[in-house]
Amino acid sequence: MKAYRVVIVGATGAVGKELLKLLEVRNFPIQDLRLVASPRSSGRFIEIKNKRFIVEPPSPEVFEGADFVFFSAGASRSKEYVPWALKSGARVIDNSSAFRMDPEVPLVVPEINCAELERHSGLISNPNCTAAILAVATWPLHCQAKIRKMIVSTYQAASGAGEAAMHELTRQTEEIISGKHAQASVFPHPIAFNLFSHNTPIGPNGYNEEENKIIQEVRKIFHEPELKIAPTCIRVPILRAHSASVTLEFEEPLSAKEAKNILKNAPGIQLVDDSEKNHFPMPIEATGKLDVLVGRIRQLSEDPYSLALFVCGDQLLKGAAWNALQIAEELILKDQMKSNAVPESLQAALESNMVLT
Ligand code: A2P
Repeated sequence: MKAYRVVIVGATGAVGKELLKLLEVRNFPIQDLRLVASPRSSGRFIEIKNKRFIVEPPSPEVFEGADFVFFSAGASRSKEYVPWALKSGARVIDNSSAFRMDPEVPLVVPEINCAELERHSGLISNPNCTAAILAVATWPLHCQAKIRKMIVSTYQAASGAGEAAMHELTRQTEEIISGKHAQASVFPHPIAFNLFSHNTPIGPNGYNEEENKIIQEVRKIFHEPELKIAPTCIRVPILRAHSASVTLEFEEPLSAKEAKNILKNAPGIQLVDDSEKNHFPMPIEATGKLDVLVGRIRQLSEDPYSLALFVCGDQLLKGAAWNALQIAEELILKDQMKSNAVPESLQAALESNMVLT
């Protein structure tokens, strides 16, 4: 099997570290690995599979000969360095918001729109963490009954603001427990024992930046530019799994029982819906899982066109590193299909997700 030259930009950050772990556990075929972070981290060593890798600062040279480059260092860094990586001929998977809404750049959640990978010209965007988790959970229901309106309230973990924010939550919790004043530095308000409206600027439409990302990105991923979405994004004192309470209105009737059956068999989803034990998705159980947990599925006031559900997904995994790696794995699969000269008929069937009999 061919092995690849991989570069990770943001390797010392919360998402970068998860990506490194996933590359190892998924046995990603790596020929050469280069780790990039800010000049502050240059010269540090990171150990992977008993091998030590030095952390390098960004430079055009670091991308030379790369096959895959993963970016998780924020939008301004992606805007600056992605062109270097593309120039070197690498396939770039960017976890930032820098290029997500560019019509030329596919925005991919592999469970939903893998076909988009056919039209990339080097750069593929990884969606916003909440948008990815929400999209995976609702897409199978959209395919069945067509969503007309989506009302979402989120409960978002500290990890979405990076590793420094996770440390801030832990530190403030300790400060408050020991009777001290909780110092806020990453977030604008105390996060321990508190919650607040998402810490992104409010736009002219009254929605904050995070909420507008959800609206625009879910529409792009679903290919539904008119889909009505009303999100309210809230930061909560949770370390790394995002949750969302979702109300859906459909074009076609859909019962809670049908929805459970659909979700039980859908890719990337684990149904957690045990009414007897009052056991539903929880961030503590979503943490470390690749799948998104979905449950609490119920009809709204006996309206056959509406359902409510509760969703939890690991922000660092399906919301970031895992989705990015899935994209790379799909690209490798496509490479193999081409080089192994799979018969054209079979290749077409696989690409269109047709069932082969
Ligand atoms: P560093 O650890 O040296 O600051 P997080 O999302 O957890 O905050 O992580 C952000 C990641 O982006 C870190 O790996 C961070 O490196 C990296 N980063 C920050 N600024 C730059 C930069 N100018 N060039 C490359 N990487 C950067």
